[in-house]
Amino acid sequence: MTTLSNEQINEIRLSVDIVDVVSRYISLTKKGKNYFGICPFHEDGDPSLSVSPDKQIFSCFSCHTAGNVFKFLMEYEHISFMEAVKMVADMSGISVDIQTNTTFHKQSKIYDIYEIGQKFYVNNINTQYGKVAKEYLINRGITEEMIKEFEIGLAIKNTTALSKLLEQKNFNDKDLDASGLVVRDDRGFHDFFYDRVMFPLHDMNGKVIGYSGRIYYKDDNAPKYINSKEHPLFKKGEFIYNYNKAKNDCRVKNTVIIMEGFMDVIRAYSVGVKNVVATLGTAFTKEHANIIKKLAKNVILCFDGDKAGAKATYACSNILLSMGITPKIVRLEEDLDPDEYVLKYGKDRFIDKINNPISVMDFKLDYLKKDKDLTQTIDKADYAKKILEELNDIDDDVLREVTLNKISKETDLDVEFLKSKLEPKQVVENKPKVVLKPNCSDMAQLMLLYYMLRYKEVIKMVENKNIYFPNKDFRLLSREIISFYKSHDYIDVGEILSDLDDGMAKTIGMTEALDLKEEYTQDLIDECLKNINDYNIDNEYERLHKQLEQETDILKKQEIGQKINELLIRREEDV
Ligand code: UTP
Ligand code: MN
Repeated sequence: MTTLSNEQINEIRLSVDIVDVVSRYISLTKKGKNYFGICPFHEDGDPSLSVSPDKQIFSCFSCHTAGNVFKFLMEYEHISFMEAVKMVADMSGISVDIQTNTTFHKQSKIYDIYEIGQKFYVNNINTQYGKVAKEYLINRGITEEMIKEFEIGLAIKNTTALSKLLEQKNFNDKDLDASGLVVRDDRGFHDFFYDRVMFPLHDMNGKVIGYSGRIYYKDDNAPKYINSKEHPLFKKGEFIYNYNKAKNDCRVKNTVIIMEGFMDVIRAYSVGVKNVVATLGTAFTKEHANIIKKLAKNVILCFDGDKAGAKATYACSNILLSMGITPKIVRLEEDLDPDEYVLKYGKDRFIDKINNPISVMDFKLDYLKKDKDLTQTIDKADYAKKILEELNDIDDDVLREVTLNKISKETDLDVEFLKSKLEPKQVVENKPKVVLKPNCSDMAQLMLLYYMLRYKEVIKMVENKNIYFPNKDFRLLSREIISFYKSHDYIDVGEILSDLDDGMAKTIGMTEALDLKEEYTQDLIDECLKNINDYNIDNEYERLHKQLEQETDILKKQEIGQKINELLIRREEDV
């Protein structure tokens, strides 16, 4: 793997116009010098995303996500920095020798093998061999349109049909083996799937990487579904069905609905509930949760209505909770799965269900109560203990309080007593702080940062006055700006963004959100500098005063008094 120099990366960045790239994903309208669109990184109604062709940056006035073209692609496509660099290079035909996962994957022959398989299967279902399979699908209420949309195909009875086709294409045996579409024995290759309706499984970029093959006539001995075996591009513990189709809707609604089966997903999608995904019948993993987390903030679990579905809901909720996600739950009546529910009760009632999920704690109360008799003391105690354990994993204060009140009523235990049994909640301090209503000094710091990111003269003024940014996040960014300037001898907000972490990029987003004039005036800068200095002096003054009050040693008292005097003089001079 070759590493690119900063200059090369910057050249690639400037080889495209960020406006063109963002327009591929979002529709933008020009207003003044900048372009505006609906921000894909939070639930947005008004167009809060601003894209600046001059600065080659984007920033959201509302959620403060900001960055250059690389950051936009990283966030939107969920790819790494180097993958974004590679993507931009590809757009402008610059050849770069970067080995990212995607380029590795792009070169993989397995994609080609699946592409041929996919064409073959889709073609089959539309021939005379596909008649029975089609009938089966149509009888299940899967229309021609859905068959097309989900690219459903057919593996025919002949057990060497695809093998023969693939053998003509000069793939090497290793790739054919790895794909899992063909199996080798002493007579040569034969097909892994035959006589099954084929549901393709797509990766996050929409490429086919596997299949689930369903039996389509009664056969008690055969498994209902057979899935592709794992290969380097297909890991069941990370696979999410319908990710690629659902991702935009999930982002826009900031909600993702998870189901148990992909048939459920197909049904929900076809009635317009499009922010829906499924795992592949395997247990929900932390890897799944990590991918889900990036899709949307709100997660709804809509699993099968039967006992197994409740159990899976419980297990999945716990994984999500352990990762800081508090899901909402939909439970369907009569043991129905979402597919059956829509067919039996219709789209509207289903959508109504989805729109009215219950809290995960309400679900758990029900779930843990199922095999208990709350008139019995033992069961009551057991139930209360279980719920308290569960509550320890809940971050949401309100949900904790509401639940405590509920179980207090159910078990006749005092709320305060129950509360005393909870583990004290740890305060997590690593969440990025976003100052929504900056105080006066915050505002001055942000304004200063805004102009430092544009004018080296302003950087010099900050340096000369030796300005200390009281806010830690702002201070970090100011240091980055100064060090960028020292090593480049110019400043460029679009370029510096390549090197900043999310926290600092957000701070830039906050400066952009102030919607300041492009040009600065010396008065304004002086005002900011003075404001920050005064703020620091006031803080220092207060600190010294406290010290003075607590000090008993007369000499030390004099020393502190002297310092206070110096401060006051400094403040006078600063005017
Ligand atoms: P279900 O048994 O709930 O399937 O399994 P379903 O979605 O209702 O399918 P239909 O309606 O009977 O056609 C849920 C998921 O478990 C996996 C599949 O991924 C399925 O989507 N599964 C199920 C298998 O992998 N193999 C099986 O034999 C059964
Ligand atoms: Mn089903």
